[in-house]
Amino acid sequence: MSTRPLTLLFLLMLAGSVIAGDDEPALLAEARSVATAVPPKLLSVLQQEIARGGFEGAIAACRDFAPRLAAQASADSGWHLRRVSLKNRNPRAVPDAWEREVLEDFDRRVTAGEPAAGLERGAVVEADGRREYRYLKALPTQELCLACHGSAEQVSPAVRSRLDELYPDDQATGYVSGQVRGAVALRRAL
Ligand code: HEC
Repeated sequence: MSTRPLTLLFLLMLAGSVIAGDDEPALLAEARSVATAVPPKLLSVLQQEIARGGFEGAIAACRDFAPRLAAQASADSGWHLRRVSLKNRNPRAVPDAWEREVLEDFDRRVTAGEPAAGLERGAVVEADGRREYRYLKALPTQELCLACHGSAEQVSPAVRSRLDELYPDDQATGYVSGQVRGAVALRRAL
């Protein structure tokens, strides 16, 4: 009889702490805005470098500038950022289990007709004793990407041989426009 108010109090405290600790809509909005700011910057540098040095010259932009942008955005925002892909070029872009599951879901949704551009997922994830907010935003394959991520006919011999030198285990070709090339992955400890 007297345990009921206590139980109620306990439940209220629990609910209060969950709400205070994880304001999920706010976390989602913040992660989305950090993730959305990065790709346009990369795209404009990529376009400049392609205009200047062709696709072969632009490889350096993707290789050096993209990680620098991610590091800068991480330092500025307090979120850890990186790029991931199910068919990665950089060996560091291999997704972990949670990221893999989300990327596979993105692929299924694109196959079912959803546009890749709008795909995202945010969630509170607990693993290895850590609670984090994690977020993935899909990076759609565009026409421009195909010179370095498309079919064997679309990737020139010069680009192919440079990619082979830099990424002997490259898996990131064979894409067509509209597919999910990868994602921007964010995480922050809660
Ligand atoms: C000039 C060649 C070139 C073009 C054009 C290009 N990429 Fe890449 N991409 C690369 C290289 C090189 C890497 C490996 C970068 C690194 O070492 O981190 C890469 C890596 C990536 C990654 C990280 C995951 C992985 O596979 O390592 C993503 C995501 C990606 N590119 C998406 C795109 C998208 C989307 C476009 C078009 C908007 C695009 N790329 C256009 C050369 C290119």
